[in-house]
Amino acid sequence: MSSLTHLECARCGKHFAAGQTHNLCDCGSPLLARYDLRRASPKLEPRHLQSRARDLWRYREVLPVRQDASIVSLGEGFTPLLHAHHLGDNLGLPNLYLKDEAQNPTGSFKARGMAVAVSVAQELGIRRLAVPSAGNAGGALAAYAAKAGMEAAIFMPEDTPLVIRLECALHGAKVTLVSGSIKDCGRVMRERLKGGDWFDVSTLREPYRVEGKKTMAYEVFEQLGGRLPDAMIYPTGGGTGLIGMWKAFGEMQELGWIGERRPRMFAVQAQGCAPLVRAFAGESEQAAEWVNPQTLASGLRVPAAIGDFLILRALRESRGAALAVSDGDMLTAVREIAETEGILTSPEGGATLAGLKKLLGDGFLAGHESVVLFLTATGYKYFEALETLASQRGN
Ligand SMILES: Cc1ncc(COP(=O)(O)O)c(C=O)c1O
Ligand SMILES: [Zn+2]
Repeated sequence: MSSLTHLECARCGKHFAAGQTHNLCDCGSPLLARYDLRRASPKLEPRHLQSRARDLWRYREVLPVRQDASIVSLGEGFTPLLHAHHLGDNLGLPNLYLKDEAQNPTGSFKARGMAVAVSVAQELGIRRLAVPSAGNAGGALAAYAAKAGMEAAIFMPEDTPLVIRLECALHGAKVTLVSGSIKDCGRVMRERLKGGDWFDVSTLREPYRVEGKKTMAYEVFEQLGGRLPDAMIYPTGGGTGLIGMWKAFGEMQELGWIGERRPRMFAVQAQGCAPLVRAFAGESEQAAEWVNPQTLASGLRVPAAIGDFLILRALRESRGAALAVSDGDMLTAVREIAETEGILTSPEGGATLAGLKKLLGDGFLAGHESVVLFLTATGYKYFEALETLASQRGN
């Protein structure tokens, strides 16, 4: 059973009742779900988990859905954590792991967040959900809304990969293509749906997607036999996954699973859209909007993130960093992962390997450290990029 108690503003600390619909705090900041972890901890001991279902609902005490009957599931979570022997050997990093998030429903880690958000919506009686999406979040919302019998409205950039646009339409969502980035999509969405009964499930404007994404951290802990790696490398757009995992470490400490030590968190962005990298280097607490964002990694084309201060805080507190890689380096890395480890990942997944190489080269990481790369989506949805990549070799 969920041990959810309330929601709390991530900036000013104001409390909000659970069991009601909420978007942002009055101060404009995201709300985070809080749990009675003392009550949860006896049931959520790692040794008790082994017999549970191999999906993200195995952590239901620290998830916000109160009634099991509300759960809308397509089998999300508990994706493999693969030991990357070949790639690790090439890099002199024997403890390199790949979290293969392509194995989620709809082929990306966005399924985790949407499974939880749509389930809570079901519990609260919400029937119409709307989202601006750089791509995969739209596909995931469309699928979970279909499963729940809800309506979905998705606003995505016109250059979103074709497969994702088709996926949303085939799941019966209302798709609006917008010229510009996800930020423009959010603006158009709010104008069009103003006054209607559409519930906004934009990244961190809704408190529950981050709860679904945080389960990646719980899984990594379990899959590494009850410990966390030295470093995690995460392709960062809106930052929900990174913020969620950082939140999960705090919960895991309160649950008595871990002590104070945390993995160092590294956010990888695209050189053509790197607002967090600029803010990290400039020692700012927030990230200014990136003008004219450009990258073929559609999930990283996020010029402004509402949770910027939370991402930057996690990077600094963990002694990690934010770094940018080029689109060319992402694609080279996609090929390298495909050739050495048998996984065809998306450009965002490739970005983590490109980032890892930079971090090793710059002495941020050393060969004895254990590192997890988050391969956040399948390459299958990005056939435009794959075609470019394959043609470079004359295939
Ligand atoms: C494949 C992929 N990777 C990474 C991201 C960035 O995720 P986050 O919002 O958690 O930073 C996205 C977002 O759309 C994505 O689709
Ligand atoms: Zn507030």
